[in-house]
Amino acid sequence: MTKRTSVTKAVMPVAGLGTRFLPATKATPKEMLPVVDKPAIQYVVEEAVAAGLDDVLFITGRNKTSLEDHFDRAPHLEQKLAERGTNELSRVLTELADLASIHYVRQGEPLGLGHAVHVAKGHVGNEPFAVMLGDDLIDASNPILPKMLEVLEEFGGSVLCLMEVAPEDIHLYGCAQVVETHIDDVVRVTALIEKPKSGQAPSNYAVIGRYILQPQVFPILANLGTGAGGEIQLTDALAQLIDHPTEDGGGIHAVIFRGKRYDTGDKLSYLKSVISLALDREEFGPQLRTWIKEHLAGDK
Ligand code: UTP
Repeated sequence: MTKRTSVTKAVMPVAGLGTRFLPATKATPKEMLPVVDKPAIQYVVEEAVAAGLDDVLFITGRNKTSLEDHFDRAPHLEQKLAERGTNELSRVLTELADLASIHYVRQGEPLGLGHAVHVAKGHVGNEPFAVMLGDDLIDASNPILPKMLEVLEEFGGSVLCLMEVAPEDIHLYGCAQVVETHIDDVVRVTALIEKPKSGQAPSNYAVIGRYILQPQVFPILANLGTGAGGEIQLTDALAQLIDHPTEDGGGIHAVIFRGKRYDTGDKLSYLKSVISLALDREEFGPQLRTWIKEHLAGDK
């Protein structure tokens, strides 16, 4: 059963160019690449719905057709499946189309994640909302959004999700400087730096692709220049909110995530994600494990 919360809208930016995954992403958004038997983005929509966020806004770029089709009804296909007696598959497809209330808005130009989030302003209005990145998958058995929503209730402001990464990897992420709170694995964020240069990271805490934000982030994003990589960075807007008073949408807390997360945004991480998630599945796990062992033994 899904739990109702004060946050009902999830914004999912899928307009990036996906350059790390070319040529697969030339005509397909990277969020539509299959992870075992579902596109990555379907896991993320299911995660949102499970946490009570059933209004989903996709920020799309070019190549949005496959994404729209995926979350739409496919009467012809459903009918064919029913005719062949594969009713279970037909039911799966119908449920998928009814999963959430899905909306789309175009980003126009992929100027960065901060810019993509700003495009959501009209749909989001004046309420807190979630931002969920479609190439970051969180293990469904240990969800993080419910915890983040509790932190929102407790502290207000924005809520991020942090994961400890190896020091040599922190330059790939937004990095947070934090102080402890009275709650285990919940911290207050005191500084944020996008993709810190070597030796300049204040911690090994990386910001991962789940955010709960206040609408006060929109005017900041509207006036933000480019940051790391020449892109309009969400992290830079959030850094400005750290010292705002809470009644003005300020203050940032974060949950430290210690569960399993899968990154599907680059080729090697994607391969690891597919293998890990397939190993966890009852219908593939045992056979795949045996095959991998035999395959590796054959390599020796
Ligand atoms: P990434 O930086 O991981 O995506 O952005 P990218 O730019 O597509 O990847 P590479 O580096 O070129 O391979 C994080 C998320 O933000 C979205 C992406 O689709 C991804 O889900 N995004 C990024 C946008 O929607 N618009 C943008 O302008 C940039």
